[in-house]
Amino acid sequence: MNTQNTAVWHPVARSADLRPGDNIVAGFAEGQELALWRATDGTAQAWENRCPHRSVRFTLGQVVDNHLACAYHGWQYAAGSGQCTRIPAHPAMQVPRNVCARTFATAEAAGMLWVRLSPEAPPAAPALADAVPAGWHFCRTLTVNMPADTVRAALAQRGLIAEAASGAWRGQLDGVAAAALVLDAQPRLAFVHLWTDAAPGSLAMQALHTAARSLRAGIEALG
Ligand code: FES
Repeated sequence: MNTQNTAVWHPVARSADLRPGDNIVAGFAEGQELALWRATDGTAQAWENRCPHRSVRFTLGQVVDNHLACAYHGWQYAAGSGQCTRIPAHPAMQVPRNVCARTFATAEAAGMLWVRLSPEAPPAAPALADAVPAGWHFCRTLTVNMPADTVRAALAQRGLIAEAASGAWRGQLDGVAAAALVLDAQPRLAFVHLWTDAAPGSLAMQALHTAARSLRAGIEALG
């Protein structure tokens, strides 16, 4: 895997937050609003968060029989293809093939769901499994109201180092080992997914929470 390949995959959500055939999670990547969910077989889905009919957000809808059902008129779109297969007001109608949700490629690695937005990007999922060491624990996702590049610069200033292979930032925050995955969500909004070797509930985990809040305050003070 190379860094160019890594750069096009965005860590949009924790894999554990998506339940097969159940919930829909809102996500962002480079300003693109996403609806994230799982098919009944567990396959992750990342769709533009907009119904092709009247642009209502898919995240307002629900997952029904391996389809995403829009909250407004109930049109249903199939997992995988995004093809509309049912219009409740016209149950006998053959739905035109061009009524289709916009879908994006997904990959799951290191406990995260990754999304690729660009169709020109390398199609193969990068080896993102090394982004977080095996056995590490999730700490939190930090929301920072600043550009992702500013967040990366702040991590570098605190001595964390970007790993070329995975794109993760590794080092210590206030003495606690941390892996940080930075998501470029919107022009002035970044998410930082933090993982650590500290045990859940431990003093070290609490210290990392405190360090994360301090990190955010320091970054946002720049703006
Ligand atoms: S807006 Fe989604 S079904 Fe009409």
